[in-house]
Order: sequence, then C-alpha cells, then structure tokens
Amino acid sequence: MKYLLIPKFIVTNDKNDSILTNHAVEIIDGKISSVIELKNFVRKNYPGEIFHFPELTLIPGFVQTHIHLCQTLFRGLADDLQLLDWLQYRIFPYENSHDKNSLRASVKVGINELLRGGTTTILDMGTLRHQEVIFEELIISGIRAFAGNCLIDQNDLFPQFKSTTKEQIEYTYSLAKDFHNQAEDRIKYGFAPRFVLSCSEELLKESFMMKNDFEGAVYHTHSSENKNEIAEVRKKYGKENIEYFNSINTIDDHSVFAHCIHTSENEIEIMKQTKMRVAHCPSSNLKLASGIADIPRYLKEGISVSLGADGAPCNNNLSAITEMRLAALIQKPIYSADVMDAKTVFKLATIEGAKALHLENEIGSIEIGKKADLVLLNLNSFNNSYVENENSIYSDIVYSSGMNNIHSVIVDGKWLVKEFKSLVYDEN
Ligand code: GUN
Ligand code: FE
Repeated sequence: MKYLLIPKFIVTNDKNDSILTNHAVEIIDGKISSVIELKNFVRKNYPGEIFHFPELTLIPGFVQTHIHLCQTLFRGLADDLQLLDWLQYRIFPYENSHDKNSLRASVKVGINELLRGGTTTILDMGTLRHQEVIFEELIISGIRAFAGNCLIDQNDLFPQFKSTTKEQIEYTYSLAKDFHNQAEDRIKYGFAPRFVLSCSEELLKESFMMKNDFEGAVYHTHSSENKNEIAEVRKKYGKENIEYFNSINTIDDHSVFAHCIHTSENEIEIMKQTKMRVAHCPSSNLKLASGIADIPRYLKEGISVSLGADGAPCNNNLSAITEMRLAALIQKPIYSADVMDAKTVFKLATIEGAKALHLENEIGSIEIGKKADLVLLNLNSFNNSYVENENSIYSDIVYSSGMNNIHSVIVDGKWLVKEFKSLVYDEN
C-alpha cells in the first residue's frame, strides 16, 4: 500500500519543530517513507494514490497515557464527588455490574471517541473482569494500545469488587501471554494494579516483575491523587505513595503513574531517579477536586510527563485537545502566561506520550521511518496564515480547536476516520 498526502501545513514535531509547506508525506506499508518537497516531485506516473488537501494541516496522532475505556458509559453519572466517595458510590459498583455486553458497548463508544478526537495511541486500564472483550475491540478498531485488566485483591471501599491475589496474578499473566504484541505489535500489555489501597504488596510486586517476561510491556497505576487517599496509604504503610512503591521496588522507567498531584520533595527525587512516567490528567484532577499537579516543576526536573483523559466521567469525550488546553490553562494563573505554552502541551500529547511508552522511535512525530499515525486537521475557519508567527499553529490547535476540526485519522497507514466519518464504528 502506497500513497501520498499533500496537506497545506505539516507540523512535523521533529527535533527542530519544523512546520513545512509545499511538501508531501509518502506512506508505504504503514510507514512514513519520505517527506518530499513538491518542487522535486513528479506527479505524473506516481504509482500510488495522491490525496491533495490544500486546506488541511497534518500532525502526528495524539497519545494518551491514562484512559479507562470501561468507564465510558458512566459519564454524567459520577459528578460532584471527590475520589474515594466517587469510587465507593459510583465507579466500583458500576464497574462491578459490567457484563460482557455492557463492557463491549462502553469500549466501542470510548474507542470511537478517541479516534474521532485524533488519539491514535492509548494506555488503558481495564476493569476486574472480561478483559478479553477490551482486547478484542482494541484489535478490531485499529487503534494502537497498551491495556490490561485492573488488579484488585483488597477493597475496603466496595468489598464485592475484588478477587484473590492468586486469581489476579494468574488471570493477568495469561492475558499478557495471549495479547502482548498482538495485531502486528499494535497491542501491548500494561500491567495495571489499580492503586495502593486496592492491592496487596504481593500483587504490586508480582505484577511489576511479570512485565520483565514481556518486553516492551509497562506497569500502570494511580498514585498521589487525593489527600484522603494519601492519608489512608500513610496510615497503612507509614509512607507516601511513591515512597511506598519505591520501598517495595515496584517503580522504574516502564512505570506510568497517573495523577501524581500531591508529591513530597523526597518523592520528586524518587521520580527523577527511577525515571518513572507521570500521566497528567487535568480534567479529572479538576472535576474530582483532586488538585493541580505541579507539571512545570516536573518538567524543570526532567521528569517525563504525558497526558490522559482518565475515564469519560472526568472529561466527557476523551478528547486529547481538551486535555492539552486544560494542561496549559490551569498553570497560567499560578505561574505566568508563557508557562505551559501551546507548543509545550502539544508535545506532551504527542512525542512525550510516545517517550512515556518507549515508542519514541516509532510514533509521536512525522519523520521518515516512523509509523504513519497521523491526523488531518481543518483549522481553516481560524483564518490564520501562520506566516508571521509559526507558533500560532500550536495555539490554534490547543486553544481554538476541538473534535469538529479533526478531518481524518490514520494509524499504521490505515484510515480509521476519513473526512469526519469514523470508518470503524459508524458504517451501520
Ligand atoms: N484511583 C483508583 N481507581 C481510580 C479511577 O478509576 N479513577 C481515578 N481517577 N482514580 C482512581
Ligand atoms: Fe484513572
């Protein structure tokens, strides 16, 4: 399969942040094979299809490093509570009530929204049961994903929603054997102990060590999200969340920790030393009144930060653009207008997400040899020529655009959304 995209602008996201005009991107067998200056290109006799979009902007697909597809159907039902009540009275009972059919519906809606919003890679946390359904839908959809069942072997908030340590360990290991590196490596495993309060030390450790058997797999959890949650962890273990993970050796550079809002100086030191990855979820952190993570500080310290919409009850449409916008806006009154600028948050949602998952050589930018995970945006209504200030293209994407500006979405060179229409789930 060979074709050529000729957009108006190409936001390459390469090391020089090049924004190209009068260039074409050639895709062969799912990869970017060349980026050609149009004056050097002879159209006649080109042996593939040519897609000429003189109004559109081509960008790398968004990467979201913390998603719960199993929660998509719960949106609007879980508002105005803080984390532990929200889990106890809403999310745990709802997740506990999922059967295969309701879970499949939730996952389909979620993937469809993610793709329609330009997200091409996710790290998903599943629920306690029926994880096969999530993998089946991820495989069918064409999205790139890390996923795994969430691990819970203790649950004081909702005791019905848990299983034994042994069952959890066996279940997650057999899933990893079945699904890691499936669909031509598009699907990978993310071992997902839900959070400290829902896991025994044995479960945290076993699931951490299991990933050594699956090259490229990650460890995915929630940490340091809410002050009451942190107080409970302190009461139980005499430590802060990240100190506790570190004390039992379950934190490394393949660990993605969602939230990390309330962290001590000692924890920040551990985050730096271990090279763990922070998945920042600004919508969720605001909606559950969890707090504002000090992302500018983490970035200054060289800590990896990427973005995630968390579950749909927190963001309402799983849009990466919403997360970028909020990630920028919430810091400005605290710091200054130029901190977390549009280009910075665009990078958190693309190449930094790729780095968090150790996929920076494969996705996150438009460069020769990378996989063709691409989004075409229609920014035309903003009437911006970008001639005077190239950075304004990032501003238009982050501050002015949304789902309706996503024209087409491509993963591994395959069109999953074309001209505003989802090809995965809309055809019926
Ligand atoms: N901590 C444990 N489970 C969850 C969850 O589902 N969402 C969020 N935001 N935090 C959690
Ligand atoms: Fe979450």
